[in-house]
Amino acid sequence: MDILNNFVYIKNLTKNQFEALLAISQILNRDVYEDEIIKEMLDWVINVINAERVVFAKYEKEKDEFILIAANNVNKNVNNNLTDFSAGILKQVTVKKQPVLFHDVQNDEGISQFVSVLIKQIRSVIGVPLIKNDEVWGVILADSQSDRREFTDSNLIFLNFISNLVSLAIERAGRLRILEEDNILLKHRVEEFVTAPDMIGISKGMKDLSKLIHRVAASDATVLLLGESGTGKDLAANAIHKLSLRRENPFLAQFCGSIPDSLLESELFGYKKGAFTGASADKKGLLEASNNGTFFLDEIADISVALQAKLLRVLENKEIIRVGDTQVRKINVRIITATNKDLPQLVKAGAFREDLFYRLNVFPIRVPPLRERKEDIPLLAKHFIQKLSGKEIKLGRFALIKLEKYHWPGNIRQLMNVIQRALILCDGDRIEEEHIIIEENENNLNFNGTIDDFVKQLLLKRLEEHNGNRSQTAESLGVSVRWVQLKLKQMDYK
Ligand SMILES: Nc1ncnc2c1ncn2[C@@H]1O[C@H](COP(=O)(O)OP(=O)(O)OP(=O)(O)O)[C@@H](O)[C@H]1O
Ligand SMILES: [Mg+2]
Repeated sequence: MDILNNFVYIKNLTKNQFEALLAISQILNRDVYEDEIIKEMLDWVINVINAERVVFAKYEKEKDEFILIAANNVNKNVNNNLTDFSAGILKQVTVKKQPVLFHDVQNDEGISQFVSVLIKQIRSVIGVPLIKNDEVWGVILADSQSDRREFTDSNLIFLNFISNLVSLAIERAGRLRILEEDNILLKHRVEEFVTAPDMIGISKGMKDLSKLIHRVAASDATVLLLGESGTGKDLAANAIHKLSLRRENPFLAQFCGSIPDSLLESELFGYKKGAFTGASADKKGLLEASNNGTFFLDEIADISVALQAKLLRVLENKEIIRVGDTQVRKINVRIITATNKDLPQLVKAGAFREDLFYRLNVFPIRVPPLRERKEDIPLLAKHFIQKLSGKEIKLGRFALIKLEKYHWPGNIRQLMNVIQRALILCDGDRIEEEHIIIEENENNLNFNGTIDDFVKQLLLKRLEEHNGNRSQTAESLGVSVRWVQLKLKQMDYK
């Protein structure tokens, strides 16, 4: 249908059809998303052309197949499975890039061969392509099981106008989305100067953390990083080193959890030849190897009382003795430690030396959990998509909403795992809601905090599951409402 013909045909449009076109054209001036445009459009179409069923099917060019995006029908019993519609009719519209109209399809030899048409007793079909960048992007299809006189040429013209308008609106929505996404990225670039190296985030929690990191990096103070698992303590330790005067010298780290004491000791302090079976030569420990640099002891709460004493000597006298040796060696190392446990509680219980605790706790920094800085989720998600896929994969609006709603007990590490899974599940260029699969138990299985931490996390999780309803939360946990209120108060929960 060319422009000149449009003018001729336009006279044939009814008042209803004009009204619908006006309404659809107004959508063009609103900032809405594709799915809303399509939904509104289907509502109008079903009203105006009196079809029993209208669907919008998206054409996936690479796979040469149609996906049902939205459907609308007067008769709620109608099944909206796409196979109900003749794939052959969809195909014809796509190939011709032109609207098609069939009356009495049961007796049309070219069409009745399609099984679905026969089974469903479809009598009339209208199909109109939606064109984007000169290619068919989707098809609006309306059908009726009765012989509909209303499926007229004038309806075809009407649908053609609609398809042009919707195509424009969809292009506009696409551009709007890109602008929004660019905006988030630009905002982040501006903020990048104030956040710590490699640490993504624009929330107040991240800005405060970054300020502390910058401040403490300039000093040579011992730092204790506190925070739940997966919040970014390793990253923070690294950032402190990178921003400090020691940055040209080594940054070494040792994880202290679940490592036999003797092995940990020889790793940290090194050993003299013959100190134990297998010690065939003298070996420098990690503390010595990080001389003039920074040494990060991760999960400090797990080290034995004997090693705690040796570590105290490093902090007090800046000296070490290799295992099996007598020679005292001077070292110049800045110590950073981290834990997700409640150290004062362990001190009280006699499991952690109080003097060591005070030595380590010179400058404590709390890394906030992700649920306290949900504003960072869009940026973090995009960062991980880019980092893990290396591609420009978009994050759908509903996928993002799902991420923002969750309480993330496993923090940023868990978010990263969820994104990784989503990238595996999604084979298009956009991560949608159904690709976001959150394993509720993944953090609880290897929970290594204190019982108190566990109680807090469980309570928050249940509270979220019950939409903040305290009596339902109490009932599900088998405790009194008073207990829940008391715990929340202790946690400063508002
Ligand atoms: N702000 C951030 N920006 C980008 N990536 C982050 C950020 N925080 C953490 N990550 C990433 O999340 C993962 C977990 O962080 P990290 O290992 O530092 O956590 P952690 O607090 O040390 O956890 P654990 O207590 O289990 O050792 C890492 O892959 C890290 O790179
Ligand atoms: Mg860590």
